[in-house]
Amino acid sequence: IPTIAQKNLQSLKDYTASELLDLLHFAIELKKPENKYLPLLEGKVLGMIFEKSSTRTRVSFEAGMLQLGGHAMYLSTRDIQMGRGETVADTARVLSGYLDGIMIRTFHQTTVEELAQASLVPVINGLTDDYHPCQILADLLTIYEHFGTFKGKKLTYIGDGNNVAHSLMIGAAKVGMDCTIAAPAKYFPKAAMVELAQSFAAFSGAKIEITEDPLKAVKESDILYTDVWASMGQEKEALARMQHFAPYQVNEKLAAYANPDYLFMHCLPAHREEEVTTSILEGPHSVVFQQAENRLHAQKALLAALMK
Ligand code: CP
Ligand code: NVA
Repeated sequence: IPTIAQKNLQSLKDYTASELLDLLHFAIELKKPENKYLPLLEGKVLGMIFEKSSTRTRVSFEAGMLQLGGHAMYLSTRDIQMGRGETVADTARVLSGYLDGIMIRTFHQTTVEELAQASLVPVINGLTDDYHPCQILADLLTIYEHFGTFKGKKLTYIGDGNNVAHSLMIGAAKVGMDCTIAAPAKYFPKAAMVELAQSFAAFSGAKIEITEDPLKAVKESDILYTDVWASMGQEKEALARMQHFAPYQVNEKLAAYANPDYLFMHCLPAHREEEVTTSILEGPHSVVFQQAENRLHAQKALLAALMK
C-alpha cells in the first residue's frame, strides 16, 4: 500500500510525482481479478457528501469501499443538516466521530478545505468547481495502461478550461507529460492554475501550453481530451457557451491532425454532437469506458492509501 504524506486528497498539487506513480502501480495490482476483494479496509466506513449529481463518482466509491471490505454512505446535502446551514466545520467534527474517511463533491474548493481542516479523518475531493483529482488519477491510469509512460507524450484538452482541465494540467505537469489546453480566451483555465502547473512542469520537464487555436494544439497529440461545455452549476450559460465553443468540437476533421494512434478521452457524462461527435466518442480511438472503469481501480488504491 503506497504511503502518502498528505492526510487528504484536496488537489493533485499536494502530491508528489512518486506518490502519484505509486498509486497508479497499486491500482494496477488492485485491478487484477484475483485482487478484486482484498479486505484492506475491513470495517471502515466512508461518508460521501454530494452537493451535485453523480453517477461514476458515487458508484465507483461505493463499490470500491465494499470490495475493500468496508462500507460507504451516500449523504446528499438535500438530506443532511449541512444543506440547511449547519457549518462545514461542525459537520466535519461530527462525522469524524463516526467515519474513517469523507469524500465530498461540492461547488467551492474552500468547502473541501474547511472540511479537511476540521476533520480528524481523511477528506477526498470528489469534484469542485476548481478541481477533479480523482478523475485525473483514473485518466493517468488509463494513459499509463496504453503507453506505459508519460514522458514524451502530449495530451491536448480541447474545450472549457474547467475543473477537469485544471486537474489534468496539474497531473500531467507532475508526471512529466506535455499538456496543451485549447479554449476560447474567455474560457482559458484560471491563470493561477496555469502558473501552478508551469511550476511543476519546470521540475518534471513537461511542457504546458494554452492556446486559442484547436488545430495547432491537436498536432502531434497522443491524447485528445474534452469535457462538457457547461459544467454543473453553469446550466444557465449553456446556450451562450454552445456558440463560443462550436469551433472546439472534437470531430473527425480536428482529430485527423492528431498522431495516428491517439487516444480519445472524456471524463463523462458526454453530450454527443456538442463537445464531441458520436463517431469519435464511439470510434476506435475512444477509451472513455475504460477511463470510467478506472475510476474504481484508482480510487480503491487511493482509499487504501489514505484510510488504512
Ligand atoms: N466523471 C465523473 O465524475 O462522473 P460523475 O459526475 O457521474 O461522477
Ligand atoms: N466539468 C464537469 C465534470 C463532470 C464530471 C462538471 O463539473 O460538471
